[in-house]
Amino acid sequence: MQSFIPNKAQAEKIANEFGTPVFVTDANILRRQGKRMLDAFDWSNTKILYAIKANFNPAIVKVLKEAGIHGIDTVSANEVRLALELGFAPENIVFTGAMPSDADMRSVTEQGVIVNAGSLSEIERFGKMFRGKAIAIRINPGVGDALFASNVTGGEKSSFGIIHSNFAAAKDLLKKYDLRLAGIHSHIGSGFYTPEIFIESVKLVLKEAAEFPDLDFVDFGGGFCVPYKPEDKPVDLVEFGRLVKELLTDFSAQNGREIEMRLEPGRFMVAESTALLTKITTRKQSGKYLFIGTDTGMNHLIRPAMYGSYHHIVNITNPEGKKEIASITGNICESADFFAKDREISEPREGDLLAILTSGAYGNVMSANYNLYGMAAEVMVDGEEVGLTRKRQSYEQIMENFVY
Ligand code: LLP
Repeated sequence: MQSFIPNKAQAEKIANEFGTPVFVTDANILRRQGKRMLDAFDWSNTKILYAIKANFNPAIVKVLKEAGIHGIDTVSANEVRLALELGFAPENIVFTGAMPSDADMRSVTEQGVIVNAGSLSEIERFGKMFRGKAIAIRINPGVGDALFASNVTGGEKSSFGIIHSNFAAAKDLLKKYDLRLAGIHSHIGSGFYTPEIFIESVKLVLKEAAEFPDLDFVDFGGGFCVPYKPEDKPVDLVEFGRLVKELLTDFSAQNGREIEMRLEPGRFMVAESTALLTKITTRKQSGKYLFIGTDTGMNHLIRPAMYGSYHHIVNITNPEGKKEIASITGNICESADFFAKDREISEPREGDLLAILTSGAYGNVMSANYNLYGMAAEVMVDGEEVGLTRKRQSYEQIMENFVY
């Protein structure tokens, strides 16, 4: 595992100054991941668009931008707005909505951002609003791969992308509204370690791309996983890069043109950079079970409760304590609120700080106000510098939108 673990002095200082729970991000890991991505995919005409849904903290996105990430993959008009505010050029932003409304498509198009349509309905509705404009389409390559079944976005059971049997109808709609196809996209799912299925989807996109001589780009989506468990092997990104380059080289030779390749990594860029620092509130022995309660919960990190996902947990305060088997829970009134069940951990005592690792992707961005808790604070560490990047949400801030 190469996830960020704050050291004891650093963690205590952060907890004292900013309180807990707090997401702590190491800027150097963001830079490391940015460099790995850019180095591995060395096809001459490559654009890396960070999937900002994984973590939209602007301080984090800025570090990735400085590391050379070209653009942003978005799913909502607000994500587009933020990407523009952070200085990304509209042509380096792609909007792949999930069942977008006309208003969503209109707003992003008016801001110069390409719409990547995932259904016949989207092409038709876009065509009615913007006859003659450029559009991209997301194909469903019929195959998918992800860490959890619920994160697969390929295959007929998935609601994402245009399936093969609808390709002809999609092409008819492009003609009907005089739309120029600027890009073909696919995203097979979130969280895979090996290239086989991904490469299959790349081949399908390139097969379709050969039919469109005016195409500006092909976009193979994101989904590259990171090690969550100590025994997980890192993704061999260099191998992914080599395989993709081979296919793009063949494509260029066969079609007499070099096409731009885009990728949309989210998790890979940010997951390992961040640990959720929390304090143990309660040690509770119930018969043979030891429960360790913390001052955070599924409201701040829902992944274990939602997908059964694994996050490694380290006792920062008492790393040398005797090993015990405990279930680590949150403070939310839900039986599902667990971070780990029957996990070995160094003697967890009330007041100890725990770090829940690899929490940078789909962490605080998926948080909620359940049980009237505010969203957690976020801090960035950059060498010796430590700074707050998101304030803890106050009671007043949660309540301000209620009318009563
Ligand atoms: N592109 C598209 C069109 C996507 O839908 C996604 C993720 C990505 C790129 C980035 O995928 P990544 O590189 O991050 O795997 N909440 C889940 C993950 C949901 C992913 C949604 N789409 C989790 O916590 O594992």
